[in-house]
Amino acid sequence: MLDRRRFLTASTALAATVAFRGNLIAQLDKAPSTLPDPALFDKNEDAYWAEIRKQFLIPADEIYLNNGTVGSSPAPVLRAVFDGYASTEKMDQQDPEDYPIWGYAAWNEFRDPLAEFVGCRRDEIALLRNATEANSYIANGIDLKPGDEVLMTDQEHPGGEHPWNLKAKRYGIVVKRVTLPRPVKDAAQVLNLFNDAITPRTRVIFFSHITTFSGVVLPAKELSALARSKGIVSAVDGAHVPGMMRLNIKELGCDMYSASPHKWLQAPKGSGFLYVRDEVIDRLWNTIVTEGWDDPKLRAERFQRIGSSNVPVLWGLRASIKLANDIGMDRIERRHRKLADYILDEMKERGAESWTSPDTALRCAIVTVNVPPVPRMDLENWMWKTYKIRIRGAEPNKLRLSTPYYLQKKEIDRFLEKFDEYKRERKLA
Ligand SMILES: Cc1ncc(COP(=O)(O)O)c(C=O)c1O
Repeated sequence: MLDRRRFLTASTALAATVAFRGNLIAQLDKAPSTLPDPALFDKNEDAYWAEIRKQFLIPADEIYLNNGTVGSSPAPVLRAVFDGYASTEKMDQQDPEDYPIWGYAAWNEFRDPLAEFVGCRRDEIALLRNATEANSYIANGIDLKPGDEVLMTDQEHPGGEHPWNLKAKRYGIVVKRVTLPRPVKDAAQVLNLFNDAITPRTRVIFFSHITTFSGVVLPAKELSALARSKGIVSAVDGAHVPGMMRLNIKELGCDMYSASPHKWLQAPKGSGFLYVRDEVIDRLWNTIVTEGWDDPKLRAERFQRIGSSNVPVLWGLRASIKLANDIGMDRIERRHRKLADYILDEMKERGAESWTSPDTALRCAIVTVNVPPVPRMDLENWMWKTYKIRIRGAEPNKLRLSTPYYLQKKEIDRFLEKFDEYKRERKLA
């Protein structure tokens, strides 16, 4: 039996939970139930995006300039997640062998829209939980001998680089890196750097399609063709790409591709995938293993046999694809570029050194600037604690600014105004 004090504690916790849930549901109810009329876009683009902003739970007085780390799932995606729970958690599936866990089967109702969205065949795609998991699959799964070389850039994310570092330590492969200029001038510069670094021992070229460090969009198609022409495997870390830019993996021609749709597609956290070109599937070993790992007929499905996983996340992923298609990837990408160009120009006006490529083909919605002597961590804390503006950077003076489509120009202006204020306050102006 509960004593009075424990009863009160338990009931307070319950009340808090109910209040929280009520609040979340109220927020979802407040979000418009449909997207704005596409005709509004032609009449008044800013008004269209202001309507879209209402789909996001990010409060009106908060400015989120770090979608690059992770996105924010908007109302249609969250509703789909909750619908997923409502429909599966009653455990009343028609088939007694059907349970709400993915990780043991094909789940084509989710792979089909994803494959179509990223431009590949269903049988070449495995649903996973993030790019780190997919990158680990790639590095662990490919047979290499001691002394074999993997070539990457110096701007890889830890979740892309370390799976290879582990392999180097364990099996004696060699990781080599090309140093990307800051900024990268054009695609030819990158191709030359890779071409010059290839040796007779190079077996894999691994690179980010969009790097975490500078946001540069690397020439994935040309790099994959270079690798192919020399019999080298190409593996691309596309964590940032789905939902940020139009993507057609087949056109890129790479052997493998990993991604995290919970970034720019605004899918629920824990949404990832691995693409493996059909001709390469049989060369890749599983990393996570359960029944089916050695059945070649399953094609890439065997890589998504990872044990019990959360089905409503897939409902949310599917809804995020629908949302991007409903808005239109062309419009989204144009919006991303427009906002990024604006913030970049404004930062340059303020004396920032751009580490963002001057070639528009090599940038999209992540801008990176170096702003010495501004100490980035102090600025990051000050922005967040004083004005609810969330940015990211790296030591000592680099700022990385993400411009997701739901961001409003007035929000960017507010960040710029506060950046100036910070410099004045710290006597750095
Ligand atoms: C290029 C790149 N790869 C991999 C990752 C890791 O993503 P996740 O944590 O979703 O696995 C990130 C995250 O920022 C990234 O930028």
